[in-house]
Amino acid sequence: MYWLVGRYSTLLLVLLGAVVTLTLALSSSIGWYWAAVPLTLLTLLGIYDLIQPRHAIRRNYPVLGNLRFLFEFIRPEIRQYFLEDDTHAAPFSRAQRSIVYQRAKQDIDKRPFGTQEDVYGDRYEWINHSMAPSQIAEPNFRVSVGGPDCLQPYAMSAFNISAMSFGALSANAILALNEGARQGNFAHDTGEGGISRYHRQPGGALVWNIGSGYFGCRDESGAFSEEAFVRNACTPQVKMIEIKLSQGAKPGHGGILPGAKVTHEIAEARGVAAWQDCNSPSSHSAFDSPIGLMHFVARLRRLSEGKPVGFKLCVGHPWEWFAIVKAMLETGITPDFVVVDGAEGGTGAAPIEFVDHVGTPLREALRLVHNTLVGVNLRDRIRIGASGKIITAFDMARVMAMGADWCNAARGFMFAVGCIQAQACHTGKCPTGVTTQDPVRQRALVVPDKAQRVANFHRNSLHALAELLQAAGLTHPNQLRPHHIARRVSSSEVRLLSALFPELEPGELLRGEFRHTLFRVGWPMARADSFQPVQDLTTALAAVHLAQTHATTAPTPAEELAGNTNGATAPVPGQ
Ligand SMILES: Cc1cc2nc3c(=O)[nH]c(=O)nc-3n(C[C@H](O)[C@H](O)[C@H](O)COP(=O)(O)O)c2cc1C
Ligand code: SF4
Repeated sequence: MYWLVGRYSTLLLVLLGAVVTLTLALSSSIGWYWAAVPLTLLTLLGIYDLIQPRHAIRRNYPVLGNLRFLFEFIRPEIRQYFLEDDTHAAPFSRAQRSIVYQRAKQDIDKRPFGTQEDVYGDRYEWINHSMAPSQIAEPNFRVSVGGPDCLQPYAMSAFNISAMSFGALSANAILALNEGARQGNFAHDTGEGGISRYHRQPGGALVWNIGSGYFGCRDESGAFSEEAFVRNACTPQVKMIEIKLSQGAKPGHGGILPGAKVTHEIAEARGVAAWQDCNSPSSHSAFDSPIGLMHFVARLRRLSEGKPVGFKLCVGHPWEWFAIVKAMLETGITPDFVVVDGAEGGTGAAPIEFVDHVGTPLREALRLVHNTLVGVNLRDRIRIGASGKIITAFDMARVMAMGADWCNAARGFMFAVGCIQAQACHTGKCPTGVTTQDPVRQRALVVPDKAQRVANFHRNSLHALAELLQAAGLTHPNQLRPHHIARRVSSSEVRLLSALFPELEPGELLRGEFRHTLFRVGWPMARADSFQPVQDLTTALAAVHLAQTHATTAPTPAEELAGNTNGATAPVPGQ
């Protein structure tokens, strides 16, 4: 009995309070209604809690139990505003978010007093400066994208907006991003949801991201349609075409946009029926082999009148990437660019296992892609873009030192248009209007103001990159090499990235000189006509083991690979 009273004490107290205050309100002064009304409402809530079937805690602790849900609801904000420290990244730290807000709002982005980084902590990284700093007059760094078969090369900025669809983002967010890209003369990736009217309206340069749903270039059955593709690809606003093979946050996972979210505008952009489930399969139907992918690249380039065509991927099995490179060699068709997306990349929504544990992180993947292209003498005709938590100029410098020609940022630009990292993107209830289709919530995002911030963030980030380059004595990010960046690997050891991620010699793979285990084992496994390996990894490891003469102390390929996978040593470039 005591337990029962204890559990229901809050309800009993508010009930008692309601009875007393109502009696006083009726008998003495109507001022008592100020207390009687809320207490009566709480009593009714408590009675509802007792009978509702969904929440055990509310049935056992009527009234009081609701506090749990209230606290759970405001937990992210409490953590973010009161508990989180400046450098704790979840997924972006307060310091990272602040630098975007400051650069976007033209606030002071300098820090007083000194670093908050632990410069003696493992994984601390820095760029080595020069005694002879350079001078950069104009930090508008660009790279020309377009190989020998491209008729309309595009001068890509070193920093661009990564793929995010209309549908994942609100109309106002797309408008602000594209207008910002127009003002700053850089590229805005459409995301796989097609080219919406909100992408077109401001007129900023577009990279058209084409996923397995072929949104904007599909027929009624969902297959790739040449006619629909040409209609969009040949518009002057589309500067490049990016076949999306996979995305770091959910590689190998398709997606369904539920019918309830497929508004008329989203349906129009995607070329699908409104209010019907909209499916993105986990793989493409226009090709099913590496050679097929290369022919698809050539087909899109021809149909788009020679615009740069490339693909975006998160690296998985290395031999599948090698198979694509072998297909380039076999067909003589090369993409104009490859965008490497790291496993640390973002998404509108994905299963937690995929977000946390599928895909190769950016640095290893980037090094692998760069090295393979160097090893087959194709690096000079294929440009590499990179994305994965790139926020600051140092993030840019690091990936460019490791092989990227340009950087893309998705969530960085979301911060620029007002995202506060509430992480409710998948609920449709984004508090800042960035990832919601609710017109009332979207009002929070004022397009002209946020477009200006997008342009500011881009410009100020490149300015910061120029300052870093000047300090290192360089004049363009394309001069950055892994030896410019140092990393602490233990309390008493520091390595240059060039030692941690060695570079292949040009043509090394063509000559069959496999100095590094990953290539020695993985390259022979790959075949241009299939993503399936010639043989499985165990057989390939055994074959390499048999073929090479080992000193008794030398590790076997399997041991070397295991060492690399564990991150213990890194003799293999990129893995
Ligand atoms: C809301 C959202 C939607 C995205 N949609 C796409 C998409 O349609 N196609 C795609 O290739 N990548 C998509 N991405 C991945 C980003 O383009 C980018 O590759 C990834 O988030 C890494 O960049 P970041 O770390 O700067 O966010 C999306 C990311 C986010 C956050
Ligand atoms: S504010 Fe929150 S819900 Fe809105 S885009 Fe940012 S993380 Fe997503």
